[in-house]
Amino acid sequence: MLGLTNCAADGRNWRDGSGRLPMRRLKGLVLAGGKGSRLRPLTATGAKQLVPVANKPVLYYALEQLVAAGITEIGIVTGDTGEQVSGAVGDGGRFGAEVTYLPQSAPLGLAHAILTAREWLADDPFCMFLGDNFLMGGIADHAARFANGAAAAQILLKPVADPRAFGVAVLDATGRVTRLVEKPNDPISDLAVIGVYFFGPEVHQITPTLVPSARGELEITDAIEGLIRAGYDVHSSIINDEWIDTGKKDDMLEANRLVLGAIDRCIEGTVDGDSTVVGPVVIEAGAVVAGSTVRGPAIIGAGARLTDAYVGPFTAIGPGCTLTSCEIEHSIVLERSVIRNVDCRIADSLIGREVTVARSPLKPHAMRLMIGDHSMVDVVS
Ligand code: TTP
Repeated sequence: MLGLTNCAADGRNWRDGSGRLPMRRLKGLVLAGGKGSRLRPLTATGAKQLVPVANKPVLYYALEQLVAAGITEIGIVTGDTGEQVSGAVGDGGRFGAEVTYLPQSAPLGLAHAILTAREWLADDPFCMFLGDNFLMGGIADHAARFANGAAAAQILLKPVADPRAFGVAVLDATGRVTRLVEKPNDPISDLAVIGVYFFGPEVHQITPTLVPSARGELEITDAIEGLIRAGYDVHSSIINDEWIDTGKKDDMLEANRLVLGAIDRCIEGTVDGDSTVVGPVVIEAGAVVAGSTVRGPAIIGAGARLTDAYVGPFTAIGPGCTLTSCEIEHSIVLERSVIRNVDCRIADSLIGREVTVARSPLKPHAMRLMIGDHSMVDVVS
């Protein structure tokens, strides 16, 4: 938290404990709509922002980090999966936030989400946090810097090895953003723009003037370029912490690896005498581990049951799952799924809710698959 103590009379400006610095009070705008096409078929039935990292929806990390930065008035932009999102987050009370839902007519782009939220935002400065972005270090320092300054925008940048896959920012000697370039072929900058942005009310002069890009969206990069062209200051904050855009399976697994890599051992469930639990492992209340080995870092969700199973490092088993005579590692399994009598080890996998993966006694010996659209199955020959 920022340790902010007293509010100014208009309720919009804060002072730090010393009473010296007037700070702009920020709202939070979390984007939880979108198409989620890269994470199909999971997103055919569910919000991608609710896919869990270490058994906690990725969206929750964004909400927690906003609150930890002192930003408690939060608007969540939603799309087709709005009911699931509001069902999971509720009024925000348990995060220490006050949440307002802002349904977006269609996933028409990140800048369109700002247009959608225009009335709710009023003229308050805000932090826009993409609900599928995962940041290890939080945003408190960056939020304080923006709140203490007068920039029209501040974007977070992360040095990356291959800038060609990202939107990158070009800076002047003082760290001001002079240009944004989408997926550059030339090594013009290695500073990728990540999914956390700070804006002042100036952005509302730009967003109504934007036109859809080639992919039919109102682009946030165009909004930022518009601010620069209009002569406003766009500052940058370079982050050294890990950042992941969890849009794809391997990104989810990587975020899962990072969070599990930092967990402490905590056994609340039941582990029988024939089981071995090694290293940082969380076994939630009501989970039962029988005749099994769990090698951390790993988390076993509440009410899950492991029998004659091996769960290896960097694996999150969701609540209510049943694993019997199988081996799995470096994977995420969502709630209430069943894995039974599978001979070969499952690895690098993202398994949805209420899925069954089981060896069949039926003849002929064949794989019988019922798999959703856009699924991917790697078989062992
Ligand atoms: P993206 O990952 O850029 O877009 P997407 O969700 O459509 O995903 P995909 O490319 O796999 O089809 O979106 C980043 C975040 O912003 C994500 O949480 C969804 C959200 N979003 C909105 O809320 N409204 C929008 O119009 C768009 C484009 C995204």
